Amino acid sequence: MPDSRPIGVFDSGIGGLTVVKALRELLPNEKIFYLGDTARVPYGSKSASTVERYSLEITEMLVGEGVKTIVVACNSASAVALPKLERILSVPVVGVILPGAKAAVAATRNRHVGVIGTRATIKSGAYETALSSLSSQVRVTARACPLLVPLIEEGWLNDELTDRVIVRYLEPLIREGIDTLVLGCTHYPLLSGAIEHALGPTTTLVDSARNCATAVQELLDRQQLRAPAGNSGSLEVALTDAPDNFMRVAREALQLDVGEVQLREVLHGAAKL
Ligand code: DGL
Repeated sequence: MPDSRPIGVFDSGIGGLTVVKALRELLPNEKIFYLGDTARVPYGSKSASTVERYSLEITEMLVGEGVKTIVVACNSASAVALPKLERILSVPVVGVILPGAKAAVAATRNRHVGVIGTRATIKSGAYETALSSLSSQVRVTARACPLLVPLIEEGWLNDELTDRVIVRYLEPLIREGIDTLVLGCTHYPLLSGAIEHALGPTTTLVDSARNCATAVQELLDRQQLRAPAGNSGSLEVALTDAPDNFMRVAREALQLDVGEVQLREVLHGAAKL
């Protein structure tokens, strides 16, 4: 039976829109409801227990919107909250880490994979766990890049200062000899041009956003949750705080038509679940 309910997607801010962009391209007839927790961005500098509580609250709000599945379009939330979300939510949940790790294992030739992400993601060791569950031969060099999310949220995407920050973060990984780099934060695809430039042509970039969209497609097919073939898809966006730079980045950098942004108050208390 086709299912025309929306796919719920969340992130702390604009990063998850890179997943939305990939979903819109891959599944054009699906409705998407996006919730950005802009009142509490960034997640990546907060403790695991705080990110888990935020994730529970936001996903409960998405369930209240009548979504058929939830995409955790945030590596920090996927890294620390996914097992709990999978256990307690009444709809299937897809995270970004396993799809990105699978793509990295397929891409690496010298079996040395680099991962960049927020402090919360890197500290959790979630990529190391996922990569070692897929291949015992892959070596991982991971690095937290805490300055990148604020620069992206600020819209400094083509900026000399951002380029210098990227080079400073990536130099040790390049020196260590990685041949594949996982963008372990859904904000980072917005800087993929500058990151590719800093890495040079011999390193493969793995974009966890695109691989996550493929995982969502597989899940919908497996569970027969695809929207009817003739449906036209749509994107509805809600935020927990005023849009500000959000709209500009969404429109200019991602060419996403986000329409009118709704405001939602955070539903506190879900952490008790
Ligand atoms: N986009 C998020 C991620 O993938 C986190 C950004 C943040 O809130 O720190 O980790």
